[in-house]
Amino acid sequence: MSTVAIAGGHGKIAMLLGALLVDRGDAVRGLIRNPDQEADLRERRIEPLLCDLEGDDDVAAAVRGADAVVFAAGAGPGSGEARKSTMDLGGAVKLIEAARSEGISRYLMVSAMGAAAPPAAGTEPEGADSAAGDDVFGAYLRAKASADEALRTSGLDFTIVRPGGLTDDRGTGLVSIAERLDRGQVPRADVAAVLLACLEKASTIGQSFDLTSGDTPIAAALPR
Ligand SMILES: NC(=O)c1ccc[n+]([C@@H]2O[C@H](COP(=O)([O-])OP(=O)(O)OC[C@H]3O[C@@H](n4cnc5c(N)ncnc54)[C@H](OP(=O)(O)O)[C@@H]3O)[C@@H](O)[C@H]2O)c1
Repeated sequence: MSTVAIAGGHGKIAMLLGALLVDRGDAVRGLIRNPDQEADLRERRIEPLLCDLEGDDDVAAAVRGADAVVFAAGAGPGSGEARKSTMDLGGAVKLIEAARSEGISRYLMVSAMGAAAPPAAGTEPEGADSAAGDDVFGAYLRAKASADEALRTSGLDFTIVRPGGLTDDRGTGLVSIAERLDRGQVPRADVAAVLLACLEKASTIGQSFDLTSGDTPIAAALPR
């Protein structure tokens, strides 16, 4: 049995992943900032732990004893440019620092399609969930790119998963995974299943890839 700490523990992907991990017998800790969410986590046998990734909370203490951490938090679509920096970048970096200081080597990053080549500031962005040319989305992709780079150079055993546009459709277990893919969508349930498979497959350590729905079963689609 492993212990997995998920940052953004009440998020949609986080809850789906948490349920998969609990089902396979792991201990799951969900890092949340809102105490009203504790009951939802407990109901799913996920241990809630209050930790605001943009505040002064002790992130190292929150992940202490975990075997792996997952960054599934995000400022969300309604947030402005400032929170792309404090949450999508700053929160991910705090989790990197916490993992390093606690000797936790495994780190899974929920990144975003488009973060592999973010638009320069002031140019039209292209990516997973951009509804329109929008510099906030560009700032989001640049924040995700910087977070991914910080993880890549951290010395941790990382896997960076860059999903396309997220949907709440049922998971199919069929995906496309590659260094770069054309834009597309993917159910959050399949993202969670890919994250679980990454924790189980050492060959995904050191890998970064785009993820959309596709025709290939997850186990076969992952890097060998
Ligand atoms: N939308 C897309 O199409 C898309 C595509 C590719 C990648 N992504 C990435 O995938 C991530 C996960 O997706 P999702 O749908 O599962 O997201 P989600 O449901 O919005 O979950 C994000 C979680 O982050 C938490 N959070 C925000 N600020 C925090 C803070 N300061 N400290 C701790 N937790 C904080 C939120 O908690 P609160 O309830 O407290 O706000 C929320 O539970 C997104 O955040 C995004 O970066 C999204």
